[in-house]
Amino acid sequence: MDLFVQVDEYLGDALLEPDAALEGALERSAAAGLPPIAVSALQGKLLHLLVRISGAHHVLEVGTLGGYSTIWLARAASTVTTLELDPHHADVARENLAAAGLSNVTVVEGPALETLATLTETVDFAFIDADKANNPRYVEQVLRLSRPGTVIVVDNTVRQGRVADATLTDADVVGTRELFELLRSDPRVDATTIQTVGLKGHDGFTLCRVS
Ligand code: SAH
Ligand code: DHB
Ligand code: MG
Repeated sequence: MDLFVQVDEYLGDALLEPDAALEGALERSAAAGLPPIAVSALQGKLLHLLVRISGAHHVLEVGTLGGYSTIWLARAASTVTTLELDPHHADVARENLAAAGLSNVTVVEGPALETLATLTETVDFAFIDADKANNPRYVEQVLRLSRPGTVIVVDNTVRQGRVADATLTDADVVGTRELFELLRSDPRVDATTIQTVGLKGHDGFTLCRVS
């Protein structure tokens, strides 16, 4: 774990510029009492690059927190719609997005299962990073809003390997297994999952392309 942190620090120094808006967003989020569970800087850069590589214009995010991942996405997209349950998180995110000079983001408050159902605009790229138990339901809703070529990234699908531990049956793990079952069997989508190590320990993300 120390090694994972050291290497992430090395890679961050090697590849990323100091960024006052991103660092400010993390500082304001911590000061406001939000949990320190945003994507790492290197993961945020991956999201940013995936949006650019895929040529996505309209991005949907499920799970805003303080808007840290949102800033990475919004700098690559035309518009971002980001869904957040907790009004306090949404307030902090709006403040962080304004401080970052971003005016292309709409933060929608409420349970994402409900707010997703109200959306109608086609999504080019989706980042799903809220309550893990609902991941299969979130992907179903994103598929409804997708076109051929839409990219979906789902965060935290490995969780220290918990997904592969057959003795575990908590709602998050069950949701992840249901997600994999959906992705394996649904002809509308192709997917893979990559394990990751770094500042946030051992986890992974699932990358999908809608057909
Ligand atoms: N994407 C953020 C981190 C999100 S943390 C980043 O990397 O910077 C997960 C967020 O999902 C939390 O803010 C939590 O309040 C929110 N969340 C949890 N359940 C939710 C639900 N049912 N609907 C919408 N948001 C939810
Ligand atoms: C947690 C949530 C996340 O989205 C994440 O990337 C890491 C941890 C959590 O709820 O603990
Ligand atoms: Mg996450």
